[in-house]
Amino acid sequence: MTNLYLLRTAALLVGVSAFTTVAVASDLTAVPQPPDFPAQTKVQYVDGKAILEYKALPAYNEPAWVKKNFVDAGKLPPVKDRLPKEPMVYKTANMADGIGVYGDTMRHVIGGRPEGWNYWAGQTQGWGGIDIGLSECLTRTGPLFQVKADDLQPLPNLAKSWEWSKDGHTLTMHLLEGAKWSDGVEFTSEDLMFYWEDNVLDTNVKPLNGASPETFGVGTTLKAIDKYTVEWTFKDAFPKQFIYNMAYGTFCPGPAHVLKPQHPKYSKNTYDQYKNAFPPTYMNFPVMGAWVPVAYRPDDIIVLRRNPYYWKVDEKGNQLPYLDEMHYKLSTWADRDVQAVAGSGDFSNLEQPENFVESLKRAAQKDAPARLAFGSRLIGYNINMNFSANGWGDPDARAQAVRELNRNEHFRKAVTMAINRKELGDSLVKGPFVATYPGGILSGSNFYDRQSTMYYPFDLEGAKKELAAAGLKDTDGDGIVNFPANVNGGKNVEISLLMTNDYTTDKSLAEGVVAQMQKLGIRVVLNTQAGKDRDQAAGAGKFDWEVLRTSAELASVVQNTPQLAATGPRTSWFHRANNKNELDLMPFEKELADTVNKFIVASDPKEQAELMKKYQKIYTTNVNTVGLVEYPGALIINKRFKNVPPGTPIYMFNWAEDSVIRERLYVPVADQGDYQLFKDMLPGKPGGDGPQK
Ligand code: GLA
Ligand code: CA
Repeated sequence: MTNLYLLRTAALLVGVSAFTTVAVASDLTAVPQPPDFPAQTKVQYVDGKAILEYKALPAYNEPAWVKKNFVDAGKLPPVKDRLPKEPMVYKTANMADGIGVYGDTMRHVIGGRPEGWNYWAGQTQGWGGIDIGLSECLTRTGPLFQVKADDLQPLPNLAKSWEWSKDGHTLTMHLLEGAKWSDGVEFTSEDLMFYWEDNVLDTNVKPLNGASPETFGVGTTLKAIDKYTVEWTFKDAFPKQFIYNMAYGTFCPGPAHVLKPQHPKYSKNTYDQYKNAFPPTYMNFPVMGAWVPVAYRPDDIIVLRRNPYYWKVDEKGNQLPYLDEMHYKLSTWADRDVQAVAGSGDFSNLEQPENFVESLKRAAQKDAPARLAFGSRLIGYNINMNFSANGWGDPDARAQAVRELNRNEHFRKAVTMAINRKELGDSLVKGPFVATYPGGILSGSNFYDRQSTMYYPFDLEGAKKELAAAGLKDTDGDGIVNFPANVNGGKNVEISLLMTNDYTTDKSLAEGVVAQMQKLGIRVVLNTQAGKDRDQAAGAGKFDWEVLRTSAELASVVQNTPQLAATGPRTSWFHRANNKNELDLMPFEKELADTVNKFIVASDPKEQAELMKKYQKIYTTNVNTVGLVEYPGALIINKRFKNVPPGTPIYMFNWAEDSVIRERLYVPVADQGDYQLFKDMLPGKPGGDGPQK
């Protein structure tokens, strides 16, 4: 991409708008064609098998200082004994710049804060790629953006291969043999069984990314056959979709040897004590990932050093990662963009349109330290309405009355018709990036079909009629409609909108919604929370409406597929079961769930495509969510890094922190910066003070 190209893009931003002006008419139509936008990079598609393999190599290498200071000094076994029998080998042909060299640091900036390391019991580690890097999962999906849709299959990772029984009800998985945690303890099927039995099946524990037994299908079982073999059984035949859920973030086991002794089943701890047993100050927490946390300074930085037991190598036998150190500066998400374009940070997912103009201008300059490349429109925002009317989250009388409204189709139609999406888009950024989004599958997805994407155009008068049809009238003339006299005391309709203030975009959109709903005659009150508290409240069902950025299933469809609908008691973001495990689905939600379940067991790509068209039509016609806007994101990465796969989207199957394959990135010696805080040091003892020399 040339600088000139970026400059033109920056100029375009002040030009035309992405929204086609439509005649005022509330008739259901297909959504307008989203406009093209420039500066989009192309992906180089590869065969799924071209990325990696597992095999023993004749010899292995590691950084000279590890050999000299640790192996030769008797502190660490030789590298060949630290690697599994057959390590994962990245193929050189799939590496943009080829075999790398050791050294340097990747400086991340994040807006989250670590609660602790117990991800399996629901603690956030701060997001922004920390947990993605620490945890390795049975399979991997981030890099699949470069694999053509008809060749798609999850990549092997901790599970190096798998096969189906003849009848398709049993899946046997073979784990990497002889791989070790970063403290040298062997990784085995026991780690998987502890995660499954005591963290997923034990519903007192709520893993961070919401893994539940149903994430892998209702009635699914898992058992260990031996140290390196496990067996899944499924109710349906060949539910291949679930193998995608064994990738980030729903099947990434933790170190059983460290976690188990703290779990209530094996100790006197309460569930809360288990969750909090590994605070952020606990250093050298054992991981399977490429880097281990060795230093933490509150509101300042988390530092990670290379994992000497990492189980991946390049074709020359060099143990990965190439980068010796990782930084996570504890700041804000907006600052991540600013630092990445300025060169004081190395990486950002440019995902807040409020920062597009400045970032594009800086990246277009000749001396710009970072590359900036847009992907397709794969970020969207929705208002999710809480659809549970049977007790999820213990609503009081007012909240219960709102839940009933949320389930009324006239009400949902009124809300979506009262949303002026052009105005919302312009409040983020002017120009061709932000487009109308009626909810459902995002337009950048391989499964998107515009003709199946139905949309109720902006029409405030029509919206008011729908509101009246829902039984709402302003009986006291104060401009806000009232509940019918026999509901919630006939009071004004007041709705609480759950949101996070971690992102400017969430704030801009939520405030826009408040103003637009005021015009419709509905009072919306913001319930603003820090990200982690928002997630807690949402997961517990404590909200009327929430404004929420889309996640993987609406972009990739094949990742986290069960979350596309209420396919189980805990799979939907906004409709979960009450404490008796009862789910009160409306007829269209039942249809959505049936369609998704058919997709999960469908093997023909054509059939899958048709099912998703059907899903999209049911979703958008019934206003399953009130879509707001969608737009592309751009990956910003410092120019000194090599092996960045061309066209990496910031979010498709997973976030770019996974998709770029950080363990393969490197910096040529001449370009290496002097950023390492713990040069020539390795992680120390789990729970100890920090790194060792
Ligand atoms: C946050 C950021 C994203 C991405 C993810 C990774 O959600 O907003 O851009 O970095 O963390 O988990
Ligand atoms: Ca009123």
